[in-house]
Amino acid sequence: MKKNRLTELLNIELPLIQAGMVWVSGAKLAAASSNAGCLGVIGAGSMQPDLLDYHIKKAKSLTDKPLAVNFPLLYSKIEEQIEVALKNNIQVFITSAGSPKKFTSLLKEKGKTVIHVTSTPELAKKCEDAGVDAVIVEGFEAGGHNGRDETTSLVLIPQCVEAVDIPIIAAGGFATGGSVLAGLALGAEGIQMGTRFLMTEESSAHKNYKELLAHAPHNATMLMMKNLVPVRLFKNKFYEEIKDLENNCASKDVLLQHLGKGRAKLGMLEGDLDNGELEVGQICSLIKTYPNVSDVVSEIQAEYQQARQRVLEEE
Ligand SMILES: Cc1cc2nc3c(=O)[nH]c(=O)nc-3n(C[C@H](O)[C@H](O)[C@H](O)COP(=O)(O)O)c2cc1C
Repeated sequence: MKKNRLTELLNIELPLIQAGMVWVSGAKLAAASSNAGCLGVIGAGSMQPDLLDYHIKKAKSLTDKPLAVNFPLLYSKIEEQIEVALKNNIQVFITSAGSPKKFTSLLKEKGKTVIHVTSTPELAKKCEDAGVDAVIVEGFEAGGHNGRDETTSLVLIPQCVEAVDIPIIAAGGFATGGSVLAGLALGAEGIQMGTRFLMTEESSAHKNYKELLAHAPHNATMLMMKNLVPVRLFKNKFYEEIKDLENNCASKDVLLQHLGKGRAKLGMLEGDLDNGELEVGQICSLIKTYPNVSDVVSEIQAEYQQARQRVLEEE
């Protein structure tokens, strides 16, 4: 895979980013991903500031390569989290679920690299206007919280490439070297993968969850709670309960009450596969194993070369 504007900006060997994920991407996963040549990302969304401090320090003790932190902006202690990352000299700040204007100027004044996550070309343009260095554009296939427009990566990438001049990082549905080639061919300069890295030895997802995903059928997920906070869920008992509530036109309050607190932690970290909220991308049905990060990245590189060769042979 060739160097490009994004690999230069982030000082990484491969145009691959391990996604920041609540309850899944702590120090071990981020450091392993950075050591494999990708950008390793700690997911701050499920961490109190002191825990984030621990994970950044731990990751830095495991790698001397670049590391980033992902900050969903809707968390109440977001200012403290940003402060912790600044104190620990994190260079790359990835913000999501909020306005790109919120922290970009402050972080740029401090010489930091800022990336914002979006799911529409209009918002990608707003990110560029706010001064971010690159945007992550998340298609409908993606795991975790999602846009409402249902625009798939195949359509969203060229839309965003047309809308902005800064580098685009494509996310949503990427797990193989062939898909990386496709994303780059459409004009993305980097590819972010969530579900693929969730399915590794180093991720903190519970073993029960990884085993469940290793046997996922082709239609394992669905985007739910579009009127509240759209999120792609694995179809378990909790999903069925949400589906019944939505089919019966439950109010936002009723949905919120059923969601309660700690459902994602219960499912993904603690392994309660019935009552937990299991966030994952559509691509989970194609991932049957959870090896270590280094093997996953080597496999993606080999698949990328094979896919490239196939295309060249056809020319
Ligand atoms: C379990 C899980 C948790 C996630 N948590 C976050 C998060 O905290 N912040 C964020 O910006 N995106 C989050 N995402 C979205 C990922 O960063 C990434 O963009 C997405 O997984 C890409 O789609 P893929 O799963 O098809 O690779 C999460 C995704 C998953 C699967």
